[in-house]
Amino acid sequence: MLHQYPTSFARFYDVIYHHLRNGVDHEFYLNEIKQTKGKILEIGVGTGRFFADALSTGADIYGIDISSAMIDVLLGKIDKREHHRVSIQSITDCKFDSQFKLIIAPFRVMMHVLDKEEQLKAINNAYDHLAPGGKFIFDTFIPNLQQLITGLENQVDFEGEYESDKKLKRIVSTKPDLINQLINIHFRIEWDEDNKTKMEEWDVPLRYYFRYELEHLVERSKFDKYKVLGDYLGNELNNQSKEFVFICQK
Ligand SMILES: C[S@@+](CC[C@H](N)C(=O)[O-])C[C@H]1O[C@@H](n2cnc3c(N)ncnc32)[C@H](O)[C@@H]1O
Repeated sequence: MLHQYPTSFARFYDVIYHHLRNGVDHEFYLNEIKQTKGKILEIGVGTGRFFADALSTGADIYGIDISSAMIDVLLGKIDKREHHRVSIQSITDCKFDSQFKLIIAPFRVMMHVLDKEEQLKAINNAYDHLAPGGKFIFDTFIPNLQQLITGLENQVDFEGEYESDKKLKRIVSTKPDLINQLINIHFRIEWDEDNKTKMEEWDVPLRYYFRYELEHLVERSKFDKYKVLGDYLGNELNNQSKEFVFICQK
């Protein structure tokens, strides 16, 4: 089952994640994009946190996503002549006539793919769309076991303004589903508009992964070569790592 991001989440995505995430992964993915000579595909392109910058630096980049609300925000940021580069498709069965030198699925896209056969389809689909020597990069977070078990209860993970004098707040709660390896997340977004506080809630499951599960999954796929980093600075996995960054090569 596909869980599309709702309108309010898409609307405030950039305000929240430029703050929470850009310092972590932005430079890494943009460097990968800049170093690529040839076509690039971003899977789960969202509001274009990387895509819009990549396009403005001249990258030959294409993007897909399943959430129309996210894509709408992205289309609002780029020239109409470039809209043909963006389409609504899923990682598991997207189709392109051309092959890509680089395919990226940044910031938890694979965690939205819940079923193991679908995960394998997704990775193999990326393989099939890569040119020889091309790379597929995706990331997932390393589960924090303590937080996973206890869950979060109404934690404010963002509080600020989305425009001058207009407040925005996001509150998150999580519950684990250990047997299905899911974190069920409940988001509540509150924002000031028309002299009222508006609100939208959203429930979404995220599939968490362990290291050797991901290694086995990639090894079951068509990829023969891969490496795993523990951050976006090029460091190997260690006990302080918070991320699995998989770099698979065709
Ligand atoms: C956390 S956002 C990341 C967006 C963007 N890559 C970024 O880093 O800001 C995850 C994105 O993956 C998309 N997504 C979820 N399932 C997907 C699927 N099966 N195929 C393609 N995109 C998917 C969501 O709609 C969402 O836009």
